[in-house]
Amino acid sequence: MKGIIAISLKRLVKKEYGLEKWYDILERSGFSKYELIKASDDLDDAKFLNIIASTCAVLDITLEQAADAFGDYWVNEYAPEVYSVYYKNAKTAKELILNMNNVHKKVVLDLENARPPTFEFEWKNDNTLLINYKSDRNLAILMIGLLKGVSKYYNEDLKIRLISDNTAEVVFN
Ligand code: HEM
Repeated sequence: MKGIIAISLKRLVKKEYGLEKWYDILERSGFSKYELIKASDDLDDAKFLNIIASTCAVLDITLEQAADAFGDYWVNEYAPEVYSVYYKNAKTAKELILNMNNVHKKVVLDLENARPPTFEFEWKNDNTLLINYKSDRNLAILMIGLLKGVSKYYNEDLKIRLISDNTAEVVFN
């Protein structure tokens, strides 16, 4: 996983809980507390999963709470600052979500070796979208947190839930 994801998590933890907690998380995950992660770093996926598990342990939150907090922070604070260009052309949550494969493809151009997930979209009916998540990292729970973040960003009350291991259901209004 690219370092930029861990950097964003660090900022969130620092803001909400203080830097000491981030140091605890790093040390529990097999890093030195002084480890300076760069956006372009390639973090071993197992080590990144350790960071997620340590975040839950140190902050005493569930994986779902961590995914929701990260998704909210990434979509509403971090990405609008670092990747504002991707928001400019999307006027609704639906437009941003349906463009996610393109966004991730473009991200790869700036971040060598990035391996973002891909999504298959299927309309169940006029306002219900099924999103099939494809990534060997098995972080569909993170997809749910990020989709909730998109719902908040556009101030739209989407109904979002995981209906199978890799499929999200999104009901638009
Ligand atoms: C402008 C908004 C977004 C940008 C710029 C962005 C960019 C990125 C980047 C750089 C990564 C790291 C990839 C890697 O290390 O190989 C990533 C991972 C990920 N993104 Fe996004 N993303 C955005 C929004 C979203 C949204 C809305 C979703 C949900 C549908 C999503 C789902 C994921 C997931 C689940 C991962 C974890 C990696 C994996 O599962 O393999 N992203 N994204």
